[in-house]
Amino acid sequence: MTVAVVPSILKWTGSKRSQAGQIARLAPAHDRYFEPFVGGGAVLYHLARQGAQASDLYAPLIGFWTMVRDEPQVLIADYADQWRRLQDDLPGYFYAVRTRFNAEHRPTDLNFLMRTCVNGIVRFSQAGDFNNSFHLSRKGMLPSRFEKAVRAWSARIQGVAFVVRDYREALAQARPGDFVYLDPPYAGNHQRYIGGIDEAALFAALEDLNRRGVTWALSFDGQRGETVYRAAVPADLYRRRLSLVSGNSAVAKVLNGPIEKVSEALYLSW
Ligand SMILES: C[S@@+](CC[C@H](N)C(=O)[O-])C[C@H]1O[C@@H](n2cnc3c(N)ncnc32)[C@H](O)[C@@H]1O
Repeated sequence: MTVAVVPSILKWTGSKRSQAGQIARLAPAHDRYFEPFVGGGAVLYHLARQGAQASDLYAPLIGFWTMVRDEPQVLIADYADQWRRLQDDLPGYFYAVRTRFNAEHRPTDLNFLMRTCVNGIVRFSQAGDFNNSFHLSRKGMLPSRFEKAVRAWSARIQGVAFVVRDYREALAQARPGDFVYLDPPYAGNHQRYIGGIDEAALFAALEDLNRRGVTWALSFDGQRGETVYRAAVPADLYRRRLSLVSGNSAVAKVLNGPIEKVSEALYLSW
């Protein structure tokens, strides 16, 4: 079953929230669903089923998802508590939590920072520290709204395994009949993610999936305005290439640049 809107729980950079329904509708019938670059999990929201495997290299993010699944009440209460502290100490409390997060990497602190930082965009320094600032004109998502989103997500992902691992380890688990959706970080955009990926290794991994009879879809070569971020995927790897329009770029908004249409290619192996 697909639903129209993914409740906003985590605005990860590169979120496929605006295209998730289209991508999910394209998915062929499958046994298990794999999402090896899960991030904010927009497509996962539609395709989550018993036996699905979601993974990411970024451990605090997987810690966050595990809490949504297993301890939604703890996460909801923590956010309500931190949000109240923030109202009493704006923006000092935000920066205190940011310092604590960079030392301890608590998933609850990642959640708090994501809800209250500028446009909710994740940004890391060279050293891997979360370095985005407080969103001065806002005071963070209201706890009541956050609670609704967490409850909707928690119900949805009960049967999903969340694992910290490299995408290649995840792909090694896939069997014929499984379906994999891949949404790797843009090349040359390292600052917005922990880790960057090597394109040749990615293409080799897709070739391996083809050899093993695993069906996949890949979001790739983002284009913003006139800027093309990537080269095309080798033509012998896929059967179809679709162009999905994903709306205005959150990054362009943050940089106060011109608002440009972002279109995103989706490559299908079938
Ligand atoms: C474009 S984001 C995914 C966004 C997601 N589709 C959404 O809707 O929010 C890419 C994700 O890949 C993760 N990542 C980067 N390198 C990775 C690797 N080698 N293996 C697994 N995950 C990786 C990043 O931490 C990030 O969460």
